Amino acid sequence: MRIERPRYTERFGSVRINDVQKVLELDSGRAKELPPRKNIAVQKIEDDVIKDFEEKMAIVIPTKDEKLKLFEGVIRGVPHECLIIVVSNSQRKSVDRFRMEQDALNQFCHFTGRQALIFHQKDPILAKALTEAGYADFVGEDERVRDGKAEGMVLATFIAMMANKKYVGFIDADNYFPGSVWEYAKCYAAGFSMAKSPYAMVRILWHYKPKISAGMYFKKWGRVSEITNKCINSLVSTKTRFETQCIKTGNAGEHAMSLELAEILPYASGYAVEPQELVSILEEFGGVLPITHQTAAKHGVEVFQIETINPHLHEEKGLEHLIGMLLPGLGAIYHSPLCEAETKQLILGELLRQDAIKPGEEPPKPHISAPPKKIDLHKFTNVLGEHMDSYSALGEK
Ligand code: GDD
Ligand code: MG
Repeated sequence: MRIERPRYTERFGSVRINDVQKVLELDSGRAKELPPRKNIAVQKIEDDVIKDFEEKMAIVIPTKDEKLKLFEGVIRGVPHECLIIVVSNSQRKSVDRFRMEQDALNQFCHFTGRQALIFHQKDPILAKALTEAGYADFVGEDERVRDGKAEGMVLATFIAMMANKKYVGFIDADNYFPGSVWEYAKCYAAGFSMAKSPYAMVRILWHYKPKISAGMYFKKWGRVSEITNKCINSLVSTKTRFETQCIKTGNAGEHAMSLELAEILPYASGYAVEPQELVSILEEFGGVLPITHQTAAKHGVEVFQIETINPHLHEEKGLEHLIGMLLPGLGAIYHSPLCEAETKQLILGELLRQDAIKPGEEPPKPHISAPPKKIDLHKFTNVLGEHMDSYSALGEK
């Protein structure tokens, strides 16, 4: 892969947010013995280097009642060396969609010699394991893990920790292009290979997000993303007093983290999760509020934003769904102790314009759970131990 080097970096305390880096070539050719061409603006990342990172990476696919054909395409796009972890919240009633996902994954692993794990978010064993391991934040009154993409993501992060992975990346299951899934995983690996700190995050910016309205239109920005980015940049600008537009991936569902970073971040529930990750990084390592993780602050936290070549085409879920995503995301920014009156006004204005709140209302405060490090992984593993076989879709090597 050939990719732009980080050329512009916004610094906020010990946080380094790199401006967008574009992928120039998906395949940059063989590794050559010759000294690399002196071209400081771009970097060639060899296939072997990418594969080394992929081997240490779990790709988590959260899914809830997505079309099986899309799910199958997504798993087939994940590079071979990555461990696939599917966390499903699909229905099990009249049509057992979870069983269909399991079957598809088993068949895929059988013929490709892959290893993968698949589990259902509502499996009572998972809630029991979390509770016994001292991490009941996600468990509801019905003694099941609560609904939500974020809840599934954190659950899968625990499984990645159990599997001794070093990196965890997330890719939605409703993606129409398996080639873009492949590219996301490559971008994650490329980002981590450039990181100077063990506390690193890679967030994907899509080249285009096509819309179908009187023919295909290759739109650059999603409506929710545009507003979220504006508000989160305002939060940074009001603190530094220098206006910035550096953050372009406030809502990035496709993103990855080193487990060292993933373990120490608190997580918001539902669709507030991605903006909250950035807000938490700014809060914990920005130097304005007290720093809780001295080691991470010493190394610094690095955020990469990588723009793909493939466009992103996923399921259209309607206006109500978009509002359902905008509101909690802006709520995460609004309720941050870093958020000043100016940014709060901006957020209220945007939400009123989108009819997401009524005059006088505020966006909801997100439910935030403790960082995954709080879990007793040993106890979690013990409870799950005997059930792990049922989660495994293991192909013959
Ligand atoms: N395990 C699990 N549990 N998965 C879920 C749940 C749940 O309760 N709810 C949704 N998912 C899965 C979906 O099936 C899909 O694969 C993925 O999570 C993302 O959900 P979508 O409903 O497709 O979200 P979106 O496309 O509107 O938004 C995506 O992109 C945004 C950025 O533009 C998400 O990734 C957002 O989190 C992101 O902010
Ligand atoms: Mg989607």
